[in-house]
Amino acid sequence: MPEKRTRAIHAEVINAQPRFHQSAPEVQAYGTVTLLPLELEEPVRLEMTEQLNQLLADTMTLRDLYKKSHWQTSGPTFYQLHLLFDKHFGEQSELVDSIAERVQLLGGVSIAMAPDVAETTAIPRPPRGREAVPVQLSRLLDAHQIIIRAARKLARRASALGDDGTNDLVVSDVLRTNELQVWFVSEHLVNLPLVEAQTPSRTAGAA
Ligand SMILES: [Fe+2]
Repeated sequence: MPEKRTRAIHAEVINAQPRFHQSAPEVQAYGTVTLLPLELEEPVRLEMTEQLNQLLADTMTLRDLYKKSHWQTSGPTFYQLHLLFDKHFGEQSELVDSIAERVQLLGGVSIAMAPDVAETTAIPRPPRGREAVPVQLSRLLDAHQIIIRAARKLARRASALGDDGTNDLVVSDVLRTNELQVWFVSEHLVNLPLVEAQTPSRTAGAA
């Protein structure tokens, strides 16, 4: 056998050279589910993965909104909010992973990339520039409300369809985390004096 031909065969069998710039058709289309021994019918898994992907896109958007707020906040409460926003970012990141992997384990394809998330999310796009703290807080609370509304609906639907795992994830993780974060953010919007207590005639209900 000629030496050139021998080298070519050898290259197909064993070679330390990484294969770069590869491409091929995708192995599963978005919006489809594979068959799995989960005792959940295909229509159930199709509906659940579609709704979970909506929840995923909204959660990824809220996660990013927290990082934007973490970076861009300012004013006398900078340090406190800087830390709080990053804590909530971390908790939302964990939810993102849990929701995405729930889509995959149900046989679906999780939404992943920013342009696809931007096309899908129900949360309004914020401006690129910086906003005042009350606007940041209000924007975060509006986003939480969208997610909480969808999560309650999805949890009830999952329960009705017999998808107990999705119901548990949405209630125990998504809903409870969002409810707690709403509390922590909302308390920053209570207009209480920082230094001097106001007289009873100026407090709420006494006007
Ligand atoms: Fe940071």
